[in-house]
Amino acid sequence: MERRPLLAGNWKMHTTVAEAEDLARAIIQSQIPADRDVLLAPPFTALSAVGKVISGSAVLLGAQNVCWEEKGAFTGDISPTMLKDVGCSMAIIGHSERRQIFGESDAMINKRVAGAMQHGLTPILCIGETLDERETDQTFRVLEEQVRNGLAGIVLGSGKKIIVAYEPVWAIGTGKTASVGQAQEVHLFVRELLATMYEKNIASEIRILYGGSVNPDNVDDLMGQDDVDGALVGGAALKADSFGRIINFNK
Ligand code: PGA
Repeated sequence: MERRPLLAGNWKMHTTVAEAEDLARAIIQSQIPADRDVLLAPPFTALSAVGKVISGSAVLLGAQNVCWEEKGAFTGDISPTMLKDVGCSMAIIGHSERRQIFGESDAMINKRVAGAMQHGLTPILCIGETLDERETDQTFRVLEEQVRNGLAGIVLGSGKKIIVAYEPVWAIGTGKTASVGQAQEVHLFVRELLATMYEKNIASEIRILYGGSVNPDNVDDLMGQDDVDGALVGGAALKADSFGRIINFNK
């Protein structure tokens, strides 16, 4: 099954509107091969401006989170319809920083996934184990729980899609990357798990991204793994030249 690679830049809590516009402009000027998707996920304040910069290009716009409700008394959250309004087609959900710093639970993440899909946004569901969980052999149990709970009640097929991002918490922003073997092992595990939850052809179409210190030097090897279908990139997505090289990975 050929899955179209997706290179996603998660800008986290970085960039003013002017900085975001400059970065987006520089990225759309870099060569983007036609056989892959590129997504930019700036902070909420810059979504609209970045959406305008990239409109007419093949680059996609994504949000870093999304509420399950369309509107109402949800101070501090943002609705799927608001995100669609500024041109988003995807939303990152359940990032480990949301889970760890802001206490988002699997149940809340599941609601966000459902809400995004209901409004036609493709969720990028993030999962990942901590260092302690890896060292105590709980990696696969934790990941299975995050996948099953995050996707509880979620129906896929007929245009309804999800993307999964495996981001080992110990590799995020630390400069430590999972080895290609560790990444491939988890990606295959997740794909086989998805195949028990959904029909095989649906599971085989789900893109599974790797995230955690992806950079221009390791992207080629990571993308060379059979079940690594893309990258979710933090730090290295904040500079046009490094993200440009990541977009132009060679297997
Ligand atoms: P990093 O972040 O590339 O800076 O490790 C990745 C992420 O958290 O999505």
